[in-house]
Amino acid sequence: MANKQKQMLAVWGSPGSGKTVTAVKLAAELSKKKKNVVVVLCDNTAPMLPALVKSHKLPEASVGGVLTAPGLTQELILKNLIPFDKNPYVSLLGYKAEENLYTYAEYGKERAVDMLVLLRHIADYVIVDCTSALTGSILSTAALEVADDVLRVCGCDLKAVSYFASYLPLIEDHKFKPEKHIKALSNTRPYQGGGEYENSFGGVKHRLPYLPAVEEQAATLRLMEPLSGKEAKAYDPVIAAIVGEVFGDGQ
Ligand SMILES: Nc1ncnc2c1ncn2[C@@H]1O[C@H](COP(=O)(O)OP(=O)(O)OP(=O)(O)O)[C@@H](O)[C@H]1O
Ligand SMILES: [Mg+2]
Repeated sequence: MANKQKQMLAVWGSPGSGKTVTAVKLAAELSKKKKNVVVVLCDNTAPMLPALVKSHKLPEASVGGVLTAPGLTQELILKNLIPFDKNPYVSLLGYKAEENLYTYAEYGKERAVDMLVLLRHIADYVIVDCTSALTGSILSTAALEVADDVLRVCGCDLKAVSYFASYLPLIEDHKFKPEKHIKALSNTRPYQGGGEYENSFGGVKHRLPYLPAVEEQAATLRLMEPLSGKEAKAYDPVIAAIVGEVFGDGQ
């Protein structure tokens, strides 16, 4: 059991820290193994599908329908997966345009867990982009509990320090294993004094730099495209190191 292949990573952290961008970049890196990756986008306040995929490529599909349908089947999940641009290995499962917290009936933790279990059968790898506000997303809380690992994305700002002071007590329970989280400092600008923030987060293992090219990719729906030059050199090895730590480097 100790060597069981890890398959599911939850990406969670402070608001605006780069959880979604990091989740997508991790998926792109994993797809180089020529294995299927599903990115689950939990944001039910600002649906992320329209912020990641050109609208004319978005079919009628939503994770909200999967979580609240009377019955849950693999077929239902497959029907709601959206291909991510031209990458044949990466697909998305998220809320669609104009949806909000009240679009669907409530669902329970059991349904969220069942969906994540089925996703393990459907995909080689699953990355869950959790909401910062766990209290508003049962799916995010379930993912924190059942994922093989959690990447805790720590924004390099005082808001992040404040957020963790408020939210970490909510996941103290041993079922969340917060001490096992893999911590990454994210969106780090040179003036931000990363060292001080690292200390306040109890040390971090990975440092994702702030790069205008990443910001531009996100703003222009091109996150699936590779970075190049100096920026690739600064960013890609960090993403590769996280993938290596969680999923191993092998095929
Ligand atoms: N490494 C980076 N370099 C430059 N910009 C980044 C980087 N990571 C994220 N960003 C930018 O920071 C902003 C927030 O990123 P993102 O949406 O991924 O954060 P989030 O943690 O998912 O936010 P939310 O809490 O709203 O879900 C976006 O504008 C994104 O383009
Ligand atoms: Mg996000």
